[in-house]
Amino acid sequence: MTATAGSLMQKSLPNWDNLSFAFTETDFMYRSYGDKRNVPIWDRGEFAPLADIKVSPAAAFMSYGLGIFEGLKAQRSADGRILLFRPDKNAERFKRSAVRLSLPEFPAHQFVEACVEMVRRNERFVPPVGKGSFYLRPLELAVEPKLGLGPSNLFLVLIYGCPVGSYFTGGAPKGVRLQVLEQGRVAPGGTGYAKCMSNYAGGIYVASQWKEKGFDDVLYLDARHLKYVTETSGSNVFLKRKDGVIVTPSLDDQILPGVTRDSTIQVARSLLGMKVEERPLAIDEVIEEGEELFCTGTAWTLQSVREIVHHGITVKFPVEDARKAILDVVRGIQTGSREDTFGWTVKVR
Ligand code: COI
Repeated sequence: MTATAGSLMQKSLPNWDNLSFAFTETDFMYRSYGDKRNVPIWDRGEFAPLADIKVSPAAAFMSYGLGIFEGLKAQRSADGRILLFRPDKNAERFKRSAVRLSLPEFPAHQFVEACVEMVRRNERFVPPVGKGSFYLRPLELAVEPKLGLGPSNLFLVLIYGCPVGSYFTGGAPKGVRLQVLEQGRVAPGGTGYAKCMSNYAGGIYVASQWKEKGFDDVLYLDARHLKYVTETSGSNVFLKRKDGVIVTPSLDDQILPGVTRDSTIQVARSLLGMKVEERPLAIDEVIEEGEELFCTGTAWTLQSVREIVHHGITVKFPVEDARKAILDVVRGIQTGSREDTFGWTVKVR
């Protein structure tokens, strides 16, 4: 922190050349309180200096994981604008995740307006062109003090944000290395399609063990059959087959409807004329028919997989053409260097 005139304490700006995917403090956060017994449920919300929050030790989210979150990014364009990417899509998913966790839906317009204003208020933390993006993390938490397991009445939506660079140290320029696991990321019939806290919590232990052995992450098979690929710890997966067809697992109870997943499919199909199939994708097909494998996510962006290890056998994916072509277009839209024919970006500045 640095002191400025009037003794207002300002947060320090980061070194723009050294951004990673790590939390750093910024100026403002957003908060809105909700009570299920009120109409409307949510208050108007307010922006406040970023600070620790006060909650009861018995707040339901802390014992029972009654919390959901989102991730979305804003970027600068070369002509001086700041563009937020598809906040309406995150707002929709935030609502769907809320329903699955017995939380009240946060209105989409309030979500989008709050995200836009968060970027404006933290504008000095939006990285210069080409240096990274400003990542927003909206959360909805059941904050009612509760000992017994059951639905809550009191909720808090929080949004914080910070400048970020690549998710992987050094950017993983040659792609990531994944260990294929004969286990599911989430339970069948469970919360896999919702972006909730618990889907991520259990995977940290699993991935850490493989990271210690030189892997970047893991690739989970489906929990019902242990036959189809699903996701890594935090991204969707795409295969380009040797015949040129791109396949990604269809949305079901174990697949998160990723915003970058959807953008990838739309760009590949409509702008690049690629054939994309959404269907179950067997690990055997990945190994026998695959030419290129890549992952998608807001934090991961479009990330090549250089190799997977399955039953002790290494399978390499040296091709990166499809990913590079799609990323070029997605990035172009996100940074305003390419016409946004889909109407995905929201101009913040
Ligand atoms: C994101 O991609 O925004 C996520 O929330 C995934 C998380 C593992 C960083």
